[in-house]
Amino acid sequence: MKNILVTGGAGFIGSNFINYILNKRDDYFIVNLDKLTYAGNLENLRPSEKKKNYRFVKGDIINHELVNYIFQKYDIKYIINFAAESHVDRSILGSEIFYRTNVIGTNVLLEVSRRYEVERFLQISTDEVYGSLGLQGSFIETTPLSPNSPYSSSKVAADMMALAFYHTYGMPVLITRCSNNYGAYQFPEKLIPLMIINCLNDKELPVYGDGMNVRDWIYVIDHNKAVETVFENGKIGEVYNIGAENEMPNIKIVELILEHLNKSKNLIKFVKDRPGHDRRYAIDAAKIKNELGWKPEFSFENAIKDTIDWYLNNKNWWGRIISGDYQKYYEKQYNS
Ligand code: NAD
Ligand code: DAU
Repeated sequence: MKNILVTGGAGFIGSNFINYILNKRDDYFIVNLDKLTYAGNLENLRPSEKKKNYRFVKGDIINHELVNYIFQKYDIKYIINFAAESHVDRSILGSEIFYRTNVIGTNVLLEVSRRYEVERFLQISTDEVYGSLGLQGSFIETTPLSPNSPYSSSKVAADMMALAFYHTYGMPVLITRCSNNYGAYQFPEKLIPLMIINCLNDKELPVYGDGMNVRDWIYVIDHNKAVETVFENGKIGEVYNIGAENEMPNIKIVELILEHLNKSKNLIKFVKDRPGHDRRYAIDAAKIKNELGWKPEFSFENAIKDTIDWYLNNKNWWGRIISGDYQKYYEKQYNS
């Protein structure tokens, strides 16, 4: 049995990871430590919550004592750190919590992992650490780091810290850097769910700037299969890019959603650009493909339609989020 601490497992990617992996493997025992910020939602984990090899702990990764207690109680030997403040726009409005969670929080996890001599520490990072591309080229693992937002700079700090622990203490650290994810359970402030939900409510679709910023999209299950691959077979001390070669300007995604939902383009509203908005991301994932044999399995055409349909069929899920009801529910449940 592998005793794994998964942090941030009630968020978008973390919950998809837990549901995917527990459906597949009974040799993983997963403890999910999540603070349940606005982005954490236990409803995402319905498929896993009754499993014998799953536990949930509500708490902050900054809480050294709690993290220590979890390691001791559950004999944790592995850690996958998804926990983060993840939204660029929020980091522009206020950066402190980003550095607290993403930097100090990662430091706590690394320190406790060092004390308990973990066998693998997988840091979930992002392609945003590389900064912005021009019209040509793509990020490789050795592309110089050049973060432009408070969010991405906090992720760079965490990456550097994790690698420093590898070099200094020989800690078995691995890092993945993935491109933009889409799929079920993504919090409705990110581009794709926001546009789908606004469309369904006949609300304006706020496109930043000229709509020609490019992101490189990957289906969340493909990302999580790559995480599993690196966790199982990645080489200690290495960084692995993850991407599905699916670059697209934002406006094209918005038009595609409108088309699928049979809505008018008049809903599109070009709005003031995001400050410091990175123009283009593109991931070269040759290393993970060639060295570990991973490749994306889902086509964008099908997976984006499935994603739109998931939001269509799960109005209760996002309805509760939009109305704020789910936060009140957790506050009552956990603070009483
Ligand atoms: P998310 O915002 O949906 O979820 C983050 C989760 O972390 C939430 O459940 C939240 O409650 C929890 N959390 C936040 N602060 C915490 C703290 N101090 N202690 C414990 N838990 C805390 O984020 P996501 O989109 O699922 O991203 C997960 C990870 O993947 C992040 O590290 C992010 O940087 C990285 N990433 C995301 C994308 C993407 O497209 N969404 C792409 C590449 C990498
Ligand atoms: O690239 C990986 C990153 O992708 C992750 O590290 C982040 O955690 C994740 O949030 C995501 O960051 P982005 O800033 O790229 O995602 P977001 O969905 O916020 O925006 C995608 C693009 O859409 C970006 O160019 C900004 C634009 N946008 C976004 C919103 C919310 C709009 O035009 N309008 C919007 O309302």
